[in-house]
Amino acid sequence: MVRKALFLDSRSAQFVAMLYFCGMDALQNTKLGLKLPTDPRWVNLAEMDLAEILSDHAYCEQKATTACITLIQAYPDRTELVEALAPVVTEEWGHFRMVIAELKKRNLELGRQRKDMYVNALLAFQHKGGTRDEVLLERLLTCALIEARSAERFRLLSLHCSDHALRGWYHKFMVSEAGHYRMFLDLAELYFGKEPVWKRWQEFLQHEAEIMLQLDVRGDRMH
Ligand SMILES: [Fe+2]
Ligand SMILES: [Fe+2]
Repeated sequence: MVRKALFLDSRSAQFVAMLYFCGMDALQNTKLGLKLPTDPRWVNLAEMDLAEILSDHAYCEQKATTACITLIQAYPDRTELVEALAPVVTEEWGHFRMVIAELKKRNLELGRQRKDMYVNALLAFQHKGGTRDEVLLERLLTCALIEARSAERFRLLSLHCSDHALRGWYHKFMVSEAGHYRMFLDLAELYFGKEPVWKRWQEFLQHEAEIMLQLDVRGDRMH
């Protein structure tokens, strides 16, 4: 059952996204949702400078690609992980290319990569010095959380971006990242069991909410 859930087709991903954003994660019947919604001012700030937000978005996709590749390199013996993440590498790099194409269409240039304070704060929360397995759990939950927050922000852009041409474009990212969020949690549960994953996931969710409260609301950042 878990293995099946790891490989979401686009219709399944749409379904997960719907459940997730309806706040009724029936797949788990637990409180997997983010604890703090994004500040509503963020969309207005983000669309003030498309070159900035699209550049940051591009690097988020590049980092998602890199994260999947490094997980495969670190855990080649975890067959389910390798099989689940290999296609996601392609998908995330496809997302990067979609953003690059959108920049080009608008005669905008890819800017330089900036310090990612949100991701750095999440990485700092990971337990250090654990076993190889313990490190894997931390990494899977960190990825799940970044995907969840990304999906939440893409949803906001897909609903409220004043450039209507971009709404459908952002919707595709929202559906895809919501599917990835679910996949990372499924992998964690497959290897570590529901109860330990749920317990640590709650800690991650709580800490993420605190990070969100501490970070400035910036329109030039996806997170
Ligand atoms: Fe992506
Ligand atoms: Fe993703």
